[in-house]
Amino acid sequence: MVLSEYQLRGKMKSSKKYKFLIVEDDFPVLKILSDILKLSPFVGTIYTTDNGEHALELFKENSIDVIITDILMPKITGLELIKKIREYNSEAHIIVISAYGNTDYLREAIRNGAYDYILKPFTVDEILFSVNRVIEKLNFLEERKNYVVSLENAVKETREKLEKSFYDSLKSILNALEARDKRIYKHCHNVSIYSEKLARKMALDKKTIEKITIGALLHDIGKLAVPDNILLKDESELKREEFELLKQHPVIGKNIVLPVLKDDASILNIIFYHHEKFDGSGYPEGLRGEKIPLEAKIVSIVNYYDSLENKIGDNDSNKRELVIEELKKSSSKISDPEILKIFLSLLE
Ligand SMILES: [Fe+2]
Repeated sequence: MVLSEYQLRGKMKSSKKYKFLIVEDDFPVLKILSDILKLSPFVGTIYTTDNGEHALELFKENSIDVIITDILMPKITGLELIKKIREYNSEAHIIVISAYGNTDYLREAIRNGAYDYILKPFTVDEILFSVNRVIEKLNFLEERKNYVVSLENAVKETREKLEKSFYDSLKSILNALEARDKRIYKHCHNVSIYSEKLARKMALDKKTIEKITIGALLHDIGKLAVPDNILLKDESELKREEFELLKQHPVIGKNIVLPVLKDDASILNIIFYHHEKFDGSGYPEGLRGEKIPLEAKIVSIVNYYDSLENKIGDNDSNKRELVIEELKKSSSKISDPEILKIFLSLLE
Protein backbone atom coordinates (compact mmCIF):
# COMPACT_ATOMS: atom_id res chain seq x y z
CA MET A 1 0.00 0.00 0.00
CA VAL A 2 2.76 2.39 1.01
CA LEU A 3 4.84 1.42 -2.01
CA SER A 4 2.14 2.05 -4.58
CA GLU A 5 1.43 5.42 -2.99
CA TYR A 6 5.04 6.45 -3.50
CA GLN A 7 5.41 4.76 -6.84
CA LEU A 8 2.40 6.36 -8.45
CA ARG A 9 2.18 9.81 -6.95
CA GLY A 10 0.17 11.54 -9.63
CA LYS A 11 0.73 15.01 -8.25
CA MET A 12 4.33 14.95 -9.42
CA LYS A 13 3.93 16.46 -12.87
CA SER A 14 7.51 16.03 -14.07
CA SER A 15 8.47 12.72 -15.62
CA LYS A 16 12.17 13.45 -15.21
CA LYS A 17 14.23 10.76 -13.55
CA TYR A 18 16.95 11.95 -11.20
CA LYS A 19 20.43 10.55 -10.63
CA PHE A 20 21.17 9.38 -7.09
CA LEU A 21 24.44 8.58 -5.38
CA ILE A 22 24.51 6.42 -2.24
CA VAL A 23 27.64 6.64 -0.07
CA GLU A 24 27.66 3.94 2.62
CA ASP A 25 30.49 1.72 3.88
CA ASP A 26 28.10 -0.85 5.35
CA PHE A 27 27.39 -2.99 2.29
CA PRO A 28 24.04 -4.57 3.40
CA VAL A 29 22.70 -1.07 4.23
CA LEU A 30 23.94 0.21 0.86
CA LYS A 31 22.17 -2.67 -0.92
CA ILE A 32 18.87 -2.05 0.94
CA LEU A 33 19.01 1.69 0.23
CA SER A 34 19.61 1.00 -3.44
CA ASP A 35 16.69 -1.47 -3.60
CA ILE A 36 14.36 1.02 -1.91
CA LEU A 37 15.35 3.80 -4.33
CA LYS A 38 14.55 1.51 -7.28
CA LEU A 39 10.92 1.54 -6.10
CA SER A 40 10.53 5.22 -6.95
CA PRO A 41 9.54 5.97 -10.55
CA PHE A 42 11.43 9.25 -10.31
CA VAL A 43 14.80 7.70 -9.53
CA GLY A 44 16.96 7.06 -12.59
CA THR A 45 20.55 5.88 -12.40
CA ILE A 46 21.74 4.92 -8.91
CA TYR A 47 25.49 5.21 -8.28
CA THR A 48 26.92 3.55 -5.18
CA THR A 49 30.22 3.67 -3.36
CA ASP A 50 31.62 2.85 0.06
CA ASN A 51 33.88 5.90 0.47
CA GLY A 52 33.82 9.69 0.26
CA GLU A 53 36.77 10.13 -2.11
CA HIS A 54 35.16 7.96 -4.79
CA ALA A 55 31.82 9.65 -4.07
CA LEU A 56 33.32 13.05 -4.88
CA GLU A 57 34.71 11.72 -8.18
CA LEU A 58 31.35 10.16 -9.10
CA PHE A 59 29.54 13.38 -8.21
CA LYS A 60 31.82 15.51 -10.37
CA GLU A 61 31.70 13.15 -13.34
CA ASN A 62 28.00 12.27 -13.51
CA SER A 63 25.82 15.38 -12.85
CA ILE A 64 24.24 13.67 -9.84
CA ASP A 65 21.07 15.24 -8.47
CA VAL A 66 20.84 13.74 -4.96
CA ILE A 67 23.47 12.27 -2.65
CA ILE A 68 22.49 10.01 0.24
CA THR A 69 25.48 9.65 2.52
CA ASP A 70 26.32 8.02 5.80
CA ILE A 71 28.13 10.26 8.25
CA LEU A 72 30.60 7.90 9.87
CA MET A 73 32.93 6.54 7.20
CA PRO A 74 36.70 5.99 6.94
CA LYS A 75 38.98 8.51 5.11
CA ILE A 76 36.56 11.28 4.26
CA THR A 77 33.64 11.46 6.70
CA GLY A 78 30.13 12.26 5.54
CA LEU A 79 30.48 15.75 7.03
CA GLU A 80 33.66 16.48 5.05
CA LEU A 81 32.03 15.04 1.92
CA ILE A 82 29.04 17.40 2.31
CA LYS A 83 31.43 20.37 2.58
CA LYS A 84 33.44 19.35 -0.50
CA ILE A 85 30.33 18.65 -2.57
CA ARG A 86 28.74 21.95 -1.61
CA GLU A 87 32.00 23.77 -2.41
CA TYR A 88 31.86 22.20 -5.87
CA ASN A 89 28.13 22.76 -6.34
CA SER A 90 26.23 24.85 -3.82
CA GLU A 91 22.93 23.62 -5.30
CA ALA A 92 23.63 19.93 -4.52
CA HIS A 93 20.89 18.10 -2.61
CA ILE A 94 22.25 15.88 0.14
CA ILE A 95 20.44 13.55 2.53
CA VAL A 96 22.49 12.30 5.48
CA ILE A 97 21.99 9.03 7.31
CA SER A 98 23.15 8.69 10.86
CA ALA A 99 22.73 6.40 13.82
CA TYR A 100 20.21 7.52 16.40
CA GLY A 101 21.94 9.59 19.08
CA ASN A 102 24.47 11.34 16.80
CA THR A 103 22.46 14.54 16.85
CA ASP A 104 25.56 16.78 16.96
CA TYR A 105 26.73 15.31 13.66
CA LEU A 106 23.29 15.81 12.15
CA ARG A 107 23.16 19.41 13.30
CA GLU A 108 26.55 20.04 11.72
CA ALA A 109 25.49 18.27 8.53
CA ILE A 110 22.45 20.54 8.20
CA ARG A 111 24.68 23.55 8.96
CA ASN A 112 27.04 22.41 6.18
CA GLY A 113 24.14 22.38 3.72
CA ALA A 114 22.51 18.93 3.96
CA TYR A 115 18.91 19.05 2.74
CA ASP A 116 17.46 16.31 4.97
CA TYR A 117 18.47 13.50 7.35
CA ILE A 118 17.36 9.95 8.10
CA LEU A 119 18.04 8.14 11.34
CA LYS A 120 19.20 4.55 11.52
CA PRO A 121 17.53 2.17 11.87
CA PHE A 122 15.21 3.44 9.15
CA THR A 123 12.05 2.08 7.54
CA VAL A 124 11.26 1.85 3.83
CA ASP A 125 8.58 4.44 4.35
CA GLU A 126 11.00 6.91 5.93
CA ILE A 127 13.48 6.57 3.08
CA LEU A 128 10.83 7.00 0.39
CA PHE A 129 9.28 9.92 2.24
CA SER A 130 12.62 11.73 2.32
CA VAL A 131 13.39 10.81 -1.30
CA ASN A 132 10.00 12.04 -2.45
CA ARG A 133 10.44 15.29 -0.57
CA VAL A 134 13.72 16.02 -2.35
CA ILE A 135 12.25 14.95 -5.70
CA GLU A 136 9.30 17.29 -5.21
CA LYS A 137 11.77 20.12 -4.64
CA LEU A 138 13.82 19.13 -7.70
CA ASN A 139 10.63 18.96 -9.78
CA PHE A 140 9.66 22.41 -8.57
CA LEU A 141 13.10 23.78 -9.52
CA GLU A 142 12.90 22.02 -12.89
CA GLU A 143 9.42 23.42 -13.60
CA ARG A 144 10.57 26.90 -12.58
CA LYS A 145 13.62 26.59 -14.85
CA ASN A 146 11.40 25.43 -17.75
CA TYR A 147 8.96 28.23 -17.04
CA VAL A 148 11.75 30.83 -17.13
CA VAL A 149 13.08 29.34 -20.40
CA SER A 150 9.60 29.35 -21.98
CA LEU A 151 9.07 32.93 -20.78
CA GLU A 152 12.42 33.96 -22.26
CA ASN A 153 11.48 32.30 -25.56
CA ALA A 154 8.11 34.05 -25.59
CA VAL A 155 9.79 37.42 -24.93
CA LYS A 156 12.33 36.72 -27.70
CA GLU A 157 9.57 35.74 -30.14
CA THR A 158 7.52 38.85 -29.33
CA ARG A 159 10.61 41.05 -29.65
CA GLU A 160 11.40 39.52 -33.05
CA LYS A 161 7.80 40.10 -34.23
CA LEU A 162 7.90 43.71 -33.03
CA GLU A 163 11.28 44.27 -34.68
CA LYS A 164 9.96 42.83 -37.94
CA SER A 165 6.88 45.03 -37.92
CA PHE A 166 9.12 47.99 -36.96
CA TYR A 167 11.43 47.41 -39.94
CA ASP A 168 8.43 46.74 -42.23
CA SER A 169 6.98 50.12 -41.20
CA LEU A 170 10.30 51.89 -41.85
CA LYS A 171 10.57 50.18 -45.23
CA SER A 172 7.08 51.41 -46.16
CA ILE A 173 8.04 54.98 -45.21
CA LEU A 174 11.24 54.77 -47.28
CA ASN A 175 9.33 53.24 -50.21
CA ALA A 176 7.07 56.30 -50.12
CA LEU A 177 10.15 58.55 -50.20
CA GLU A 178 11.71 56.62 -53.09
CA ALA A 179 8.46 56.84 -55.07
CA ARG A 180 8.26 60.59 -54.41
CA ASP A 181 11.88 61.61 -55.12
CA LYS A 182 14.70 59.22 -56.00
CA ARG A 183 17.31 61.94 -55.51
CA ILE A 184 16.39 62.50 -51.85
CA TYR A 185 16.11 58.74 -51.33
CA LYS A 186 19.66 58.28 -52.64
CA HIS A 187 20.90 61.16 -50.48
CA CYS A 188 19.37 59.49 -47.38
CA HIS A 189 21.14 56.24 -48.25
CA ASN A 190 24.49 57.99 -48.71
CA VAL A 191 24.09 59.88 -45.43
CA SER A 192 23.21 56.64 -43.67
CA ILE A 193 26.29 54.82 -45.02
CA TYR A 194 28.72 57.61 -44.04
CA SER A 195 27.03 58.27 -40.69
CA GLU A 196 27.47 54.62 -39.80
CA LYS A 197 31.16 54.77 -40.80
CA LEU A 198 31.65 57.93 -38.74
CA ALA A 199 29.89 56.45 -35.70
CA ARG A 200 32.11 53.34 -35.95
CA LYS A 201 35.23 55.49 -36.24
CA MET A 202 34.09 57.31 -33.08
CA ALA A 203 33.90 53.88 -31.38
CA LEU A 204 30.28 54.35 -30.31
CA ASP A 205 28.42 51.33 -28.98
CA LYS A 206 26.59 48.93 -31.31
CA LYS A 207 23.09 50.08 -30.34
CA THR A 208 23.92 53.77 -30.91
CA ILE A 209 25.50 52.98 -34.28
CA GLU A 210 22.33 51.13 -35.29
CA LYS A 211 20.15 54.09 -34.25
CA ILE A 212 22.37 56.52 -36.16
CA THR A 213 22.23 54.34 -39.29
CA ILE A 214 18.41 54.18 -39.19
CA GLY A 215 18.02 57.83 -38.16
CA ALA A 216 20.24 58.96 -41.05
CA LEU A 217 18.20 56.86 -43.46
CA LEU A 218 15.06 58.68 -42.31
CA HIS A 219 16.49 62.14 -41.63
CA ASP A 220 14.85 63.86 -44.65
CA ILE A 221 11.58 61.93 -44.56
CA GLY A 222 9.76 65.22 -43.85
CA LYS A 223 10.55 66.31 -47.43
CA LEU A 224 7.66 64.08 -48.47
CA ALA A 225 5.50 67.06 -47.51
CA VAL A 226 7.57 69.75 -49.29
CA PRO A 227 6.33 70.76 -52.78
CA ASP A 228 8.49 69.90 -55.81
CA ASN A 229 8.99 73.53 -56.84
CA ILE A 230 10.80 74.08 -53.54
CA LEU A 231 12.72 70.79 -53.44
CA LEU A 232 14.12 71.24 -56.94
CA LYS A 233 15.51 74.73 -56.28
CA ASP A 234 18.91 75.48 -54.81
CA GLU A 235 18.52 76.79 -51.25
CA SER A 236 20.14 80.10 -52.25
CA GLU A 237 17.37 80.67 -54.84
CA LEU A 238 14.46 80.08 -52.46
CA LYS A 239 12.15 82.94 -51.55
CA ARG A 240 11.83 83.65 -47.84
CA GLU A 241 8.44 81.95 -47.51
CA GLU A 242 9.66 78.97 -49.54
CA PHE A 243 12.65 78.58 -47.28
CA GLU A 244 10.38 78.81 -44.23
CA LEU A 245 8.36 75.92 -45.66
CA LEU A 246 11.51 73.88 -46.34
CA LYS A 247 12.64 74.49 -42.76
CA GLN A 248 9.56 72.64 -41.58
CA HIS A 249 10.77 69.29 -42.94
CA PRO A 250 12.56 68.17 -39.71
CA VAL A 251 9.38 68.88 -37.74
CA ILE A 252 7.14 67.15 -40.31
CA GLY A 253 9.59 64.23 -40.51
CA LYS A 254 9.47 63.70 -36.76
CA ASN A 255 5.65 63.70 -36.86
CA ILE A 256 5.60 61.15 -39.71
CA VAL A 257 7.66 58.57 -37.80
CA LEU A 258 6.39 59.38 -34.30
CA PRO A 259 3.72 56.61 -34.23
CA VAL A 260 6.39 53.97 -35.00
CA LEU A 261 9.30 55.50 -33.10
CA LYS A 262 7.70 57.28 -30.15
CA ASP A 263 10.07 55.57 -27.69
CA ASP A 264 13.17 56.07 -29.80
CA ALA A 265 14.60 59.42 -28.79
CA SER A 266 17.87 58.97 -30.73
CA ILE A 267 16.20 58.49 -34.12
CA LEU A 268 13.67 61.25 -33.44
CA ASN A 269 16.54 63.59 -32.44
CA ILE A 270 18.37 62.88 -35.69
CA ILE A 271 15.29 63.69 -37.78
CA PHE A 272 14.36 66.76 -35.74
CA TYR A 273 17.83 68.28 -35.21
CA HIS A 274 19.82 67.37 -38.35
CA HIS A 275 19.80 71.00 -39.55
CA GLU A 276 20.96 72.52 -36.28
CA LYS A 277 24.37 74.20 -36.59
CA PHE A 278 27.17 74.37 -34.06
CA ASP A 279 27.04 78.19 -33.91
CA GLY A 280 23.29 78.19 -33.23
CA SER A 281 22.31 79.45 -36.71
CA GLY A 282 20.49 76.25 -37.70
CA TYR A 283 16.85 75.19 -37.46
CA PRO A 284 14.21 74.29 -36.24
CA GLU A 285 15.29 75.38 -32.73
CA GLY A 286 18.59 77.15 -33.25
CA LEU A 287 20.38 74.90 -30.75
CA ARG A 288 24.03 75.67 -30.15
CA GLY A 289 27.13 73.51 -29.49
CA GLU A 290 26.74 70.74 -26.95
CA LYS A 291 22.98 71.33 -26.74
CA ILE A 292 22.66 69.54 -30.08
CA PRO A 293 22.30 65.77 -29.47
CA LEU A 294 25.39 63.78 -30.46
CA GLU A 295 23.53 61.57 -32.97
CA ALA A 296 22.14 64.67 -34.71
CA LYS A 297 25.61 66.29 -34.85
CA ILE A 298 27.01 63.19 -36.56
CA VAL A 299 24.25 63.01 -39.19
CA SER A 300 24.37 66.79 -39.64
CA ILE A 301 28.04 66.71 -40.70
CA VAL A 302 27.45 63.84 -43.13
CA ASN A 303 24.30 65.54 -44.43
CA TYR A 304 26.32 68.68 -45.14
CA TYR A 305 29.07 66.61 -46.77
CA ASP A 306 26.65 64.84 -49.13
CA SER A 307 24.91 68.12 -49.99
CA LEU A 308 28.32 69.57 -50.94
CA GLU A 309 29.11 66.50 -53.05
CA ASN A 310 25.83 66.94 -54.94
CA LYS A 311 26.34 70.68 -55.31
CA ILE A 312 29.86 70.48 -56.69
CA GLY A 313 28.88 67.83 -59.22
CA ASP A 314 30.81 64.97 -60.80
CA ASN A 315 32.42 67.03 -63.56
CA ASP A 316 34.91 68.72 -61.30
CA SER A 317 38.11 66.64 -61.15
CA ASN A 318 39.05 68.13 -57.78
CA LYS A 319 35.66 67.31 -56.32
CA ARG A 320 36.92 65.48 -53.21
CA GLU A 321 39.49 68.23 -52.41
CA LEU A 322 36.88 70.95 -52.88
CA VAL A 323 34.41 69.18 -50.58
CA ILE A 324 37.06 68.70 -47.89
CA GLU A 325 38.15 72.31 -48.20
CA GLU A 326 34.55 73.49 -47.86
CA LEU A 327 34.01 71.23 -44.83
CA LYS A 328 37.12 72.61 -43.13
CA LYS A 329 35.97 76.19 -43.77
CA SER A 330 32.66 75.50 -42.12
CA SER A 331 34.21 73.80 -39.14
CA SER A 332 33.41 76.26 -36.36
CA LYS A 333 30.06 77.36 -37.79
CA ILE A 334 28.30 74.21 -38.86
CA SER A 335 29.91 71.25 -37.21
CA ASP A 336 31.24 70.09 -33.92
CA PRO A 337 35.02 70.55 -34.56
CA GLU A 338 35.93 67.30 -32.79
CA ILE A 339 33.48 65.20 -34.81
CA LEU A 340 34.44 66.99 -38.02
CA LYS A 341 38.10 66.13 -37.37
CA ILE A 342 37.20 62.44 -37.15
CA PHE A 343 35.03 62.66 -40.26
CA LEU A 344 37.83 64.34 -42.24
CA SER A 345 40.20 61.55 -41.19
CA LEU A 346 37.71 59.16 -42.80
CA LEU A 347 37.77 61.09 -46.06
CA GLU A 348 41.49 61.83 -46.31
FE1 LIG B 1 17.30 67.80 -44.27
